[in-house]
Amino acid sequence: EEMRADGLYLLPGAIDSHVHFRDPGYAHKETWRTGSAAAAMGGVTTVFEMPNTHPATGTVEALRLKQKAAEASYCDFGLHGLLGDDTVDRLEELLDAGVTSFKAFVGNTFGNLPAPTDGALLEGFETLAPLGIRTVVHAENSSILFRRQQKLKDAGRIDALAHLAARPAVAEIEAIGRVLTLAEWTGARVHIAHHSAADSLFLLREAKRRGVDVTAETCPQYLLLNTDHMLKLGGIMRLNPPIREARHNLPLWEALMDGTLDMIATDHAPHAPEEKTRESIWDCDCGFPGVETQMPLMLTEVNRGRASLMDYVRWSAVAPAKAWGLYGTKGVIAPGAHADIAIVDMERAGVLSQNRLQSISKISPWNGRPVKGYPLHTLLRGRFVMREGRLVNEAVGWGRSVKPVQKMPAARPRNTEHYSSAILQTPAGVPRTAVPQGEV
Ligand code: NCD
Ligand code: ZN
Ligand code: ZN
Repeated sequence: EEMRADGLYLLPGAIDSHVHFRDPGYAHKETWRTGSAAAAMGGVTTVFEMPNTHPATGTVEALRLKQKAAEASYCDFGLHGLLGDDTVDRLEELLDAGVTSFKAFVGNTFGNLPAPTDGALLEGFETLAPLGIRTVVHAENSSILFRRQQKLKDAGRIDALAHLAARPAVAEIEAIGRVLTLAEWTGARVHIAHHSAADSLFLLREAKRRGVDVTAETCPQYLLLNTDHMLKLGGIMRLNPPIREARHNLPLWEALMDGTLDMIATDHAPHAPEEKTRESIWDCDCGFPGVETQMPLMLTEVNRGRASLMDYVRWSAVAPAKAWGLYGTKGVIAPGAHADIAIVDMERAGVLSQNRLQSISKISPWNGRPVKGYPLHTLLRGRFVMREGRLVNEAVGWGRSVKPVQKMPAARPRNTEHYSSAILQTPAGVPRTAVPQGEV
């Protein structure tokens, strides 16, 4: 059957560094089959999936359950393992068993995984630095927010959305600052998840200037939504970190343009409709699906002239491919790259509808939003997984675990001389403490 592509654009399939496909443990929210179908429909050919399932992906047994569930995947995938106090001693074991990378939850969120102690984070980074393995960090110090939230709850403030949303970015600044300090000190590669606040961008700028190997993602919701939308939609828009005030939207966009933020991820975080619409917003689960809507939303912004198609490709495919060691393999244009392709129609206009989503969640703040620019076909390793806007059902299970083909050069501790026991050995001729002449 003939396929024509006149007037269409051929893009590398999007690589989404941040999705939650929920299986094992929460298959009523999402399964690998439904989550990866959403990816295929959204022009996404590779996802990196998060460890806050049940059991959490912090043991080899739990990883095996996830790998089994992922056999139904329509898209290629990497699996982030859990970095926490209980897992820090078996990171290499988890890598051998097939995780591609790690996530540390430095802040409370769905699954109630305890934040690693600072010491465990340091040890984890020490282990991973020489291996060149990158750690995703959920960087919002929720203990800073705890008292304030408790007071709002105790006061019965079920109308506290604005307070929740406008929660101080100091919690993000503190956590990002801490993580970047440890990353610089150990030479570990890090990745800041769901960067939401304008106020913490200066830390990324400074760390990059100093040569820290940090990458960072933001999500369409932080670029395009704010508390004005939240006050209308309520618990549906509860999210960690929160949707913030409108003043954050433009600086985040500018940070993408200037490379402070590297990429777009979705934080596809589906919950069942009844878990998002409980009477008290305090009881609503945080997060919503996004892997299927990212491409139309962002192509709409390209159509509006806010970025070029090349900017978009950099954010959706090139930067994540580089961050996860897949550059030149995952359809990112280079000789020998996989045919992981999204063919997009920049002229097609429509309205996003949550009922049509592949995700089990079917509850989205994007419902009813007009868009222009859609993926029409998605090919994974040369094979259609979505064709003419329809899922190719036979492609179920075509997804494979990614292996970083391009071996990452080992990152080096930047502060070797201060960091190792060498600090105790004063090189000959160098006084341990320089005492300026004439001063006592
Ligand atoms: C995520 C989830 O539901 O798993 N929720 C969210 O609000 N972002 C958790 C996370 O990304 O930390
Ligand atoms: Zn997170
Ligand atoms: Zn997430």
